[in-house]
Amino acid sequence: MTPRLLFAPLAVLLAAVSLHAAPAPANYDESKVPAYTLPDPLVCADGSAVRDAAAWRAKRRPELLEVFAREVYGRTPARRPEKMHWAVTSVERSALAGKAVRKEITLWFTDKKDGPQMHLLIYQPAGAAGAHAPWPVFLGLNYYGNQCVNADPGITLSRAWMRDSAEQKVVANRATEATRGTHASRWDVETVVARGYATATIYYGDICPDHKDGLPLALGAVFGTPGAEARAPDEWGAIGMWAWGLSRAMDYMAGDGELDARRVAVHGHSRLGKTALWAAAQDERFALAISNDSGCGGAALSKRIFGETVGIINRGFPHWFAKNFRRYDDNESALPVDQHELIALIAPRSVYVASAQADTWADPRGEFLSLKGAEPVFRLFGKKGMPAADIPAVDQPVAGDAIAYHVRTGKHDITPYDWAQYLDFADRQMKR
Ligand code: GCU
Repeated sequence: MTPRLLFAPLAVLLAAVSLHAAPAPANYDESKVPAYTLPDPLVCADGSAVRDAAAWRAKRRPELLEVFAREVYGRTPARRPEKMHWAVTSVERSALAGKAVRKEITLWFTDKKDGPQMHLLIYQPAGAAGAHAPWPVFLGLNYYGNQCVNADPGITLSRAWMRDSAEQKVVANRATEATRGTHASRWDVETVVARGYATATIYYGDICPDHKDGLPLALGAVFGTPGAEARAPDEWGAIGMWAWGLSRAMDYMAGDGELDARRVAVHGHSRLGKTALWAAAQDERFALAISNDSGCGGAALSKRIFGETVGIINRGFPHWFAKNFRRYDDNESALPVDQHELIALIAPRSVYVASAQADTWADPRGEFLSLKGAEPVFRLFGKKGMPAADIPAVDQPVAGDAIAYHVRTGKHDITPYDWAQYLDFADRQMKR
């Protein structure tokens, strides 16, 4: 027997052991964070330095996008399905007690009206297009169907699969009438509209149902995406698909004369915050990206071992990222990129990262440090970065001319406090 054959079974055995070994438990002790080195966003893979915005755009930005696609989120198909189309299915010009216009749009991913489709809900301030319109927009995905964002009985109830939840009144994997407005506090629709913004949303499960067998369904059926385990190592996962859906919503909005596609803030909470950042990194039409408590695989640094880790997230959610990302399970030091470079990909557009004090799972400090780590790229574009060397005290937002951060008291959530900060920042960043 050749040594190679002798060793092969051993290698297979070791690989199997490492595949099935539980990831190291989360660390919550600041003094136990091992030393780590972040890759320099301004040094190319060939070792050359990026000295100006032109070199960033021509060489380093494409290189980083490629690494994030290949190693972290999986590749996004270059073209949207040829037969994709949309139609406005309802318009109510005196919604929310006359304060808003409500629109619903269906986007079909193919030519089949009963095939995979997503439903976009938009509220914009009442009033004809004129002095203030076209309206700037906040766009984000929601967790329990469009009707969860407001109690407005006019919102079409989602018919898509969703996770059962006694708290959210989801029964037999379907939304019920009682799901209306269950996440209203997370959307603060009335406030956003009163501040002169439109707010747009899609149920994320329309794009990819969020469970480990969801990838071949919905949008995955259109692209022929295999299951989470059968995928090629660099094929996309759910986060990539959700991000794709945000870009398709942007396609629609760019043609809606009442909305200003040059002033769209893409936002998201938690897994959908990870999604918002990846969407904005790839799609330069988004003017502002807002990450609310996005944590691991979002704003938080992966190489800083605190709270959720790459190994833990890949184990818990094997369908979110590319299979390649699993190579860094308990092996973050080998990652060729880190999340500060994801934020850097959004430069010179604006980014707001927010954390919650009690949300240690998402590593508030790691989220702040990631935003700080992106500053050199913003500086290439003449932006100043944030006036804070270290994480600020709770409820003390720090905002620079392109990037902003706060850590709020309380738990993993989006609250009216968070919205107040986003609106103030958006007022400054998305002025006409
Ligand atoms: C889990 C997961 C996080 C994620 C969160 C959410 O806690 O570990 O990574 O952000 O769910 O999306 O609510």
